[in-house]
Amino acid sequence: MNKIKVAILCGGRSSEHEISCISAGGILKALDRQRYEPILIGITRLAGRWVLMAEDSTLEIVDGILPTVPEDAPEVNTDIHGFSVDGKTLHIDLIFPMLHGSFGEDGSIQGFCEIANLAYVGSGVLASAVAMDKSFAKSIFSSSGLNLAEGIVFTQDQWSRNRASCELLASVLKYPLFVKPARGGSSRGTSKVHTADVLQAAIEEAFRFDSKVMIEEAVSGREIECAVLEVEGNIIASLPGEIVIDSKHEFYDFEAKYLDGATTALIPANIPAEARAEIQKQASLAFRSLGCSGLARVDFFYGEDGQITINELNTMPGFTPTSMFPKLMESVGISYSQIIDELMKGALSRRN
Ligand SMILES: Nc1ncnc2c1ncn2[C@@H]1O[C@H](COP(=O)(O)OP(=O)(O)O)[C@@H](O)[C@H]1O
Ligand SMILES: [Mg+2]
Repeated sequence: MNKIKVAILCGGRSSEHEISCISAGGILKALDRQRYEPILIGITRLAGRWVLMAEDSTLEIVDGILPTVPEDAPEVNTDIHGFSVDGKTLHIDLIFPMLHGSFGEDGSIQGFCEIANLAYVGSGVLASAVAMDKSFAKSIFSSSGLNLAEGIVFTQDQWSRNRASCELLASVLKYPLFVKPARGGSSRGTSKVHTADVLQAAIEEAFRFDSKVMIEEAVSGREIECAVLEVEGNIIASLPGEIVIDSKHEFYDFEAKYLDGATTALIPANIPAEARAEIQKQASLAFRSLGCSGLARVDFFYGEDGQITINELNTMPGFTPTSMFPKLMESVGISYSQIIDELMKGALSRRN
């Protein structure tokens, strides 16, 4: 049997460059080598160059240093007719865009794959783009009947031309607030704001990451995540898991997520069975409402009063072996390498 050649794309020009590299490392290790032959392609952070990476590249955190794509690795020439290195064609059957954030999870790469007629893992152009922009995803979730935080959105242009009207919009929201980039990730640029005097600084911080900002009322509640995987066309929702955050972090910020082991995952979440079932139902509904494919992690808040609020849907969630997505799928008996296999199969069958 000919092996299926899979190009794993990692890095990219987004603030989640390093996390993407770690996820790619996990996939490389778990890939069934009897069936798949991996080609690791990195996208450099600054220039966005596509480069061929050695399979034994460091793709882990070593001494607190996060992995990145080397800017000086051999260039991969990409065009819609194929990929090559030094004039030699790389035969690729399938793309695994293990990229988070802009240019990766936002429909850009997906569009490229469509044009190049390449099968690829995960959601298509539209679902990727909509999920990436929380302000658009919220409208769709809302029209599907899902409960959401009250919030507003404005662009940097509106903020600089007409600050008073932006401030007026924000003034109807009840503190504490969350200010975040509409198309962000990994909590970068996100702050919790308790008083109006620091709102402006939080808005400007969010604008460092995106030209569109969202301000939301803080939902008080536990953070619950549910993984969704498409298996032979059926949508499987994992048991919901709870992110238990060390009290020294005010919320699930970047450090809590990645750096200091300040969070633990409780799977299944310690919530009533009916709430678990309801979250699974809502996660599947969210997945369908955006028209996702392959996989997604759907994040919720579960309030003291039992209120369920959807926060966001990630079409390419963190995918390291210790990430929430694979851990959640394990709760329904699907292993890390099985997830990868299902994703590849799904991608190939969608193209056929
Ligand atoms: N409206 C909100 N209420 C309570 N917490 C929030 C709210 N919005 C964001 N947060 C906190 O900030 C974190 C990151 O925000 P999120 O919208 O999930 O963006 P990201 O894509 O960066 O993960 C959340 O996990 C949560 O801890
Ligand atoms: Mg999040």
